Amino acid sequence: MKYASISDRLDGLGAAKWAVHIAGRGRAVRGEDLIFLSIGEPDLPPPPAVVERAITSLHEGRTKYTSGKGEPATLDAIAGHLTRRSGGVTVTRDNIACTSGTQHALYAAINTLVEFGDEVLVPDPYYATYEAVVAASGATFVAVPTLPEQNFHLTPEALEAAITPNSRVLLLNTPSNPTGAVLSEAEIDAIGEVCERHDLWIVCDEVYADLTFDVPFSSPFDRPQLRERSVSVASISKSHALPGFRSGWAAGPAEFIRRLTLVSETMLFGIQPFLCDAVVVALNETHPEVARQRDVFRERAQAMVATLAGSDAVSVHMPEGGMFVMADIRPTGLTGEEFAWRLLDECGVVVMPGESFGSRGGGHLRLALTVEVDVMIEACRRIRELAEQLAAERAA
Ligand SMILES: Cc1ncc(COP(=O)(O)O)c(C=O)c1O
Repeated sequence: MKYASISDRLDGLGAAKWAVHIAGRGRAVRGEDLIFLSIGEPDLPPPPAVVERAITSLHEGRTKYTSGKGEPATLDAIAGHLTRRSGGVTVTRDNIACTSGTQHALYAAINTLVEFGDEVLVPDPYYATYEAVVAASGATFVAVPTLPEQNFHLTPEALEAAITPNSRVLLLNTPSNPTGAVLSEAEIDAIGEVCERHDLWIVCDEVYADLTFDVPFSSPFDRPQLRERSVSVASISKSHALPGFRSGWAAGPAEFIRRLTLVSETMLFGIQPFLCDAVVVALNETHPEVARQRDVFRERAQAMVATLAGSDAVSVHMPEGGMFVMADIRPTGLTGEEFAWRLLDECGVVVMPGESFGSRGGGHLRLALTVEVDVMIEACRRIRELAEQLAAERAA
């Protein structure tokens, strides 16, 4: 039988990146005692008020169809949230579409903006699903290098060097998964200036926006001069520790949102109404759990950095935000992938190889901050021991 080429383009872009994690899961089911630093799922409880709202709404019969774009109350809550965040640039419901999580918003946004023959520029390392999202659209994925020595921050020069006449979109992610880099307002303005000059859209994945540590969050969508070319995608998956609610949004210029809605609702006609109600409570009220989670991740990152400090075989720097730390194991001579398999086989710790996030992640591991601090410190002790053993063997 004949199939459309989309699944050929997507073949091989999914499971391979997760091979170490999937193997670890299998071994855990068979009874092995493993520590998982591989998965980016918040381990802290969500705000009870948000969960309660979903339950109450279910009991109230909020189980019917909703509109493809989102209900007015939800759109207003998201618009209000983004208006408050931007410090004054007004966002209205015309600028918002509800989606089933950031992933759905990314898919809809990229497919609204690009197709065969177009290029999407993506700072490398990048989130593991981006290649597939771009491939689905038919556009070409162009990795833009970032450097560990610059804490993986995208520079305007690196962006400029990667631009061709076919470039259409810059896909940013701040705070970044996997690198923890948070772009400053000055960096966004400098990158935005390049995008203005080359008439590029900026799609910014802001799913970790509430998880910055000691630097402020900035977004191209909040910059008045970039507003007409900027799209913000996010959700309550990380901020409110509710990834299973699949509740997110895309924000952008009104005409972009009109077109995105056509793409989005072709696939998924409306978000569950009881979850829409929960999003309203999540965004219109203040929940101490949101700030607490940020504090806990910051403390865990500090503990991880302290545990690995002083090693000449593995090095880390404090992330500026997000839920991950990148560990540089290049002195061992192994790739991130080789190291991750040895770590699983010999030390019972499951991590993501840096290569799963692009070639610039090579020789690194991505360590998630999503376990209790004492467990995390024990995992880091084992990582350090293996790295130092391998570096010593290499030097001998
Ligand atoms: C950078 C990034 N974008 C998007 C997602 C998906 O988020 P959502 O649950 O809102 O679809 C994740 C989840 O890990 C992520 O790390």
